[in-house]
Amino acid sequence: MIQMLQKFKTALLAAGLSSVLALGFAALPGVGQSPEPKPATMHASSASLENWWKNAVYYEIYPRSFQDSNGDGIGDLNGITQRLDYLQKLGVEAIWLSPIYPSPQVDFGYDISDYENIDPQYGTLADFDKLVAEAKKHNIRIIMDMVMNHSSDKHKWFEESRSSRNNPYRNWYVWKDGKGETATDKGQPPNNWQSDFGHSAWEWDEKTRQWYYHKFYKEQPDFNWNNPEVKKAFDDILKFWMNKGVAGFRFDAITTLFEDPNWIDDKEILDKNGKTFLNAYGDVTLDDARTNNLPEVHDVIRHIREVMDSVPPTKFPGRRIMIGETYVPTIKDLLNMYGTKAKPEFELPMDTQLGFINKMDVATFRSKINDAETGLEGNVPLFVFDNHDNPRIDARYGDGVHDDDITRVISTVLFASKDAALFYNGAEIGMKTTPPTRKEDVKDPVGITGWPKDKGRDGERTPMQWDDSEYAGFSTVKPWLPVPPNKSTINVKSEQADPNSLLHWYERLIELKKTNPVFDHGQNIMLNTDNTKVLSWVRKGPGKQAIVVATNFTAEPQTIDLSAKSAGVSGTKLKTVLKSPIASEPASIDKVELPAFGVYIGEVQ
Ligand code: GLC
Repeated sequence: MIQMLQKFKTALLAAGLSSVLALGFAALPGVGQSPEPKPATMHASSASLENWWKNAVYYEIYPRSFQDSNGDGIGDLNGITQRLDYLQKLGVEAIWLSPIYPSPQVDFGYDISDYENIDPQYGTLADFDKLVAEAKKHNIRIIMDMVMNHSSDKHKWFEESRSSRNNPYRNWYVWKDGKGETATDKGQPPNNWQSDFGHSAWEWDEKTRQWYYHKFYKEQPDFNWNNPEVKKAFDDILKFWMNKGVAGFRFDAITTLFEDPNWIDDKEILDKNGKTFLNAYGDVTLDDARTNNLPEVHDVIRHIREVMDSVPPTKFPGRRIMIGETYVPTIKDLLNMYGTKAKPEFELPMDTQLGFINKMDVATFRSKINDAETGLEGNVPLFVFDNHDNPRIDARYGDGVHDDDITRVISTVLFASKDAALFYNGAEIGMKTTPPTRKEDVKDPVGITGWPKDKGRDGERTPMQWDDSEYAGFSTVKPWLPVPPNKSTINVKSEQADPNSLLHWYERLIELKKTNPVFDHGQNIMLNTDNTKVLSWVRKGPGKQAIVVATNFTAEPQTIDLSAKSAGVSGTKLKTVLKSPIASEPASIDKVELPAFGVYIGEVQ
């Protein structure tokens, strides 16, 4: 169903691991009280701008679906600029923009045909400059998506590369002879490697009679990262955007830059009966260890780090950061993505191990949060629960009855843990996954190949729901993907007016993260570690301050003891900081009652 996730699960296998509650928002003492939360300001509590990114709140925007400003049904840069006030009020400090470069849009921007320009569908370089400048006024940094694994087959480099075997760009991509080729028959691909998007990862090129490798669509040929010219070209691209004032990059598909130089077949993965099995595309499931997470990847990441540090930040002060798309199976693999002090790599490789558990399972959540707390040698985890590649929270964690409350639980884990927090546009209003119902309506090619098992990623890319008008305030014309009918109740405007809305919950949680020193500096210590219904923890210090957090992972009411003595906290009273709307004030610290999927956050006194 979910491509990236399937790969991730495969990696785990390979590693051998085996009644709607109308919750009312309580106006309570402390952070949760203000009905109009103040916009988050630049990290006043962080000592230096160098550290701005560590406890920061990141927001992924899928530009095609965020805001259309010119009435063509497709979101654009000026649309994002128009919504900066909204984002600042929400507390967003950095925006990761999914790709906006010129592209044939086969993979909706992840197939880039010019790395130093803006696709006319999204605007111009001048619009981009305006976005960076206006975002700065809102204390929001811009982070670009950087796709280095592959380009579009329409990029001039690939057009050159495929034009002849002697072309200087030939070696910029991965070309191989096949097996059993004759003068009249192209034979077979060089090996059994598969594309993440289904079927062979090799495409025959008739003109030069060789096969080229593509980890993703055939319109996305992979670069040959053993060629120093490719490296040099990307150094220049990174510098180009840094000089335009971007605060960093999210490195797409970074683990797949290299392929095993022996070009031997991938192994089949066997099920528990020792049999091979088919994936959603009807292909035998393979372990892609020969094309994923090869050690050479780290040399490139280290090199990028040096390039990033070589250009002083001009337009926006503070460290430029590197976020990694790192679907890796173990905490050890994730730790490797940070590099070492002497040879640093990513500041923020995404921790997908917590965010894509896809089950309200307390023990697994606890163990993954603990992994991040204890297994990353003090590096900052980047927690993330949603993105443009995976069904939204409702489809992975929801029960169809308590989805908003479940999102409150998940967002509490996201914002009240010790982490940098990343979330996807629309999560804050509880947008729901809305996949196409007919194959002929599918836009994401992977949904056509995988139909009906994998309906593709359209369901999580529907237009942002700003209001209840025909096109949800996203556009004045029919958008590129349909607006879900639930826009009449799930939309920014109505949630702004409702003090108990999910949107206000997000605002308050983020405000708490940004303004309370415990959430900036404190330790994260798990409480009640045998409990399988409630996940609870304490954020402790600096100084004596301690805040306890309890989240009910079940549809039944639960009672929990939050005296945090085991964590060295001595207070016996609680002062409520934030709680689910219908949760009652606790009788005492050792008897906190939580409604179905309820959340309680309180300061120990
Ligand atoms: C990343 C992107 C995804 C894209 C793929 C190929 O996983 O998030 O949307 O299709 O890379 O570029």
